[in-house]
Amino acid sequence: MKKNLVQSLAIIAATLMFSITGCKPKNAGNATEGDAASKVYVPPGKYDEFYNLVSGGFSGQVSVYGIPSGRLFRVIPVFSRDPESGWGYTEETKPMLNTSRGDVPWDDQHHLELSQTNGEVDGRWLFANGNNTPRIARIDLKTFRTAEIIEIPNSSGNHSSPFITENTEYVVAGTRFSVPMDNQPQDVPIDTYKKNFKGTVSFLSVDPKSGNMKIAFQLLLPGVSFDLSHAGKGPSNGWFFFSCYNSEQAHTLLEVNASQRDKDFIMAVNWKKAEEYVKQGKGQVQNVSYAHNVYNDSTHTATSTIETKTLVLDAKNFPDIVYLIPCPKSPHGCDVDPTGAYIVGSGKLAALIPVFSFEKMQKAIAVKNFDGNYAGLPVLKYDAVLHGEVKKPGLGPLHTEFDGRGNAYTTMFISSEIVKWRLSDLKVLDRHATYYSPGHLMIPGGDSRKPFGKYLIAYKKITKDRYLPTGPELCQAAQLFDISGDKMKLLSDYPSIGEPHYAQALPADMISKNSVKIFDIQKNQHPYVALGEKNSKVVRTGNRVDVYMTMIRSHFSPDNIEGIKVGDEVYFHLTNLEQDWDVPHGFAVRDAPTSELLVMPGETQTLKWVPDQVQIASFYCTDFCSALHQEMQGYIRVSPKGSNVPISFSLGNNSDAPGEAALDDSIKTD
Ligand code: CUA
Repeated sequence: MKKNLVQSLAIIAATLMFSITGCKPKNAGNATEGDAASKVYVPPGKYDEFYNLVSGGFSGQVSVYGIPSGRLFRVIPVFSRDPESGWGYTEETKPMLNTSRGDVPWDDQHHLELSQTNGEVDGRWLFANGNNTPRIARIDLKTFRTAEIIEIPNSSGNHSSPFITENTEYVVAGTRFSVPMDNQPQDVPIDTYKKNFKGTVSFLSVDPKSGNMKIAFQLLLPGVSFDLSHAGKGPSNGWFFFSCYNSEQAHTLLEVNASQRDKDFIMAVNWKKAEEYVKQGKGQVQNVSYAHNVYNDSTHTATSTIETKTLVLDAKNFPDIVYLIPCPKSPHGCDVDPTGAYIVGSGKLAALIPVFSFEKMQKAIAVKNFDGNYAGLPVLKYDAVLHGEVKKPGLGPLHTEFDGRGNAYTTMFISSEIVKWRLSDLKVLDRHATYYSPGHLMIPGGDSRKPFGKYLIAYKKITKDRYLPTGPELCQAAQLFDISGDKMKLLSDYPSIGEPHYAQALPADMISKNSVKIFDIQKNQHPYVALGEKNSKVVRTGNRVDVYMTMIRSHFSPDNIEGIKVGDEVYFHLTNLEQDWDVPHGFAVRDAPTSELLVMPGETQTLKWVPDQVQIASFYCTDFCSALHQEMQGYIRVSPKGSNVPISFSLGNNSDAPGEAALDDSIKTD
């Protein structure tokens, strides 16, 4: 046993050595082909062809790039606080980061999925998973803002998420860590894993109009690790496929102990069937606790609601919902081709890529061509479901996307390449080095029924010598390929934010034509809005002070405030009166232990400040809004606790003799 362990570790060490040192291609320094520069050059004033929405990994955010230029447009705050926008710092956005366990102002954002209609991307919403604290966010692509975040109960490490069905009926969440269910004792020995730890996959329904998510049902499953997933489409619509590893049910040293079995599984879930059972009132309602946070564009305010119920179907009690397909060597990527006929499983340690046939799976299920069961779930015979294997594709297959012309493209982590192969005969057609060790790859629309098949981008954590050194950590990067011809052509490299995992992309006009330019101030329903300067005011209620302040180029109203006392809870409610595109104003007050806030035209946002010393505190606009942006500033007089200075506020009331003292001083200096 011990010898086995040592041998396994030696093999893993050798593999890692190879992956780190053994694969630098000869021409890595000068590897673009032909007229690459002109293909990525977007002249000044011209727009990119595609929006590329990229996961930010451990930054917790989502970034927006243009393709083919690789220019970074925006970082959308999602799960992490963001001082640039005030996300998670303002009173309005704090509820978005609330969970059943309180404020969790960070997450690890891995996968993205665009909403779809009939299996084609439709440009309405972008879903994003939180991998650490199990959550799913929905980003509204009209505003490029996070509109909703929902927490997932009975889960830990929400990795196989947020993939969707072909009309965005459901977005799924599969747990990476099996754990005791939320309504079971949590204080149990870890070595009772096999008895006490369970896996789940959750189906969240999406309201077709508002996009709002709701946990429709959860499937209770054996204690394995769910990794990735994709929905069936076309003929396989109604099914969902999840890769899983650790069918060994190990709870320690997984790199060895979860690599014992020759095959783990791709789990096929008949979600239409599960939906029927739910409609029939089957399943068990469990008492749980999870946060559901929604941002409202009329009140410009988020609310966080703690939900208390979930509906759980124990998969082993419903024999026609879940089937397991054996899949070699700890499968990672689980990708369904555009026709919906094939499911590709990528075993991280496998030397081949198995491609499964949906049609064969249906036949095998019909005649019960099973190879026993796993924890009460039927296991289909590998050969009965297999369409075929891609032989010798490379080392370390991870993820596959499709070009819509019958070809698949798979990243090879260990051999640092992208391999193009044909779905019909599983022949390898082309391979191209990447620098280095690609994780995910993405073709615009490449996991939908209608890929746009012109570009491919590989995302990489390891760039080694590709960029100027920046201390101990080097940048992470994307590499853009032209896949319009028979051979892949490398066009460009560019650094990316955070650690990129999965990404999505779509033609630019699908979003740009709907993009919100301002918020209509007449429709501003914020309870502390000041509609016009004449409504700006300062109101004391006990030790709470509400400042209804407006912003317009280039002043605040009011900009002189007196009567604030040490220990007061001061709420600055800033309304931006502008109704022009791209004229935000910022607000920062000295010593506030929070970020600035950035207020869009027509919007109201609130900064809370508790002054802790007697002072004249300054505040100013942080966003360069006009030629007189630097003049956009003001003062607050903070008096001692118990002082009787009354509240007063003003704008433009220069009661000192204008400028005289200052002028005198300056004359005297020479
Ligand atoms: Cu307003 Cu700078």
